[in-house]
Amino acid sequence: MSDARPLQFLGICGSLRQGSFNRMALDIAIAQRPPGVEVAVADISQIPLYDEDVRAQGFPPTVETLRQQIKAADALVFACPEYNYSMSGVLKNAIDWASRPPDQPFAGKPCAILGAAAGMAGSARAQGDLRRSMVFLDMHPINKPEVLIGQAQSKFDAGGNLTDEVARNLIRDVMANLAAWARLIGKRV
Ligand SMILES: Cc1cc2nc3c(=O)[nH]c(=O)nc-3n(C[C@H](O)[C@H](O)[C@H](O)COP(=O)(O)O)c2cc1C
Repeated sequence: MSDARPLQFLGICGSLRQGSFNRMALDIAIAQRPPGVEVAVADISQIPLYDEDVRAQGFPPTVETLRQQIKAADALVFACPEYNYSMSGVLKNAIDWASRPPDQPFAGKPCAILGAAAGMAGSARAQGDLRRSMVFLDMHPINKPEVLIGQAQSKFDAGGNLTDEVARNLIRDVMANLAAWARLIGKRV
């Protein structure tokens, strides 16, 4: 076994909007990735609403692409907005599609969560729900540190820079922990 191969992470952001704080947080995670880690970001913007009748005809191309990206990744990084105390419909819908058999690609996957929200709790409730789905999907999320960026509108500047040093360090640490976790439990060449 060798750790020489770079780890491939896949970022999945649950907000589609321009100027998304969660996308900014994901970009900061990418910028602060540890050595030996490469990160691609999934495009979930064109995934249709889940429909079992459509699935019966085969996965739509956007879903197939996401499933392949998840399968190929050593680890996943979720940027999780909070909508009405839960994860966004966009994120849940993408997870629902990707999770369908055969060979549901989330199983055994190391993953980490970060989240930014307008409220004080910084997406804690949404992240809790995402973790619940991760249990069913047999994923292996790292637990610490929690990256909860509360009152996000006051923590990012117009250029997308995270001005809160504590949050920046948490993101750096969660990426480092995910790399270590992925090397420990993940698939290796
Ligand atoms: C439908 C909807 C529901 C929301 N519910 C919550 C919520 O439960 N808790 C919270 O802190 N913020 C909530 N917000 C505010 C979001 O945290 C805020 O819009 C945030 O910027 C969304 O993430 P984004 O910047 O990545 O798009 C909600 C926003 C929307 C659009």
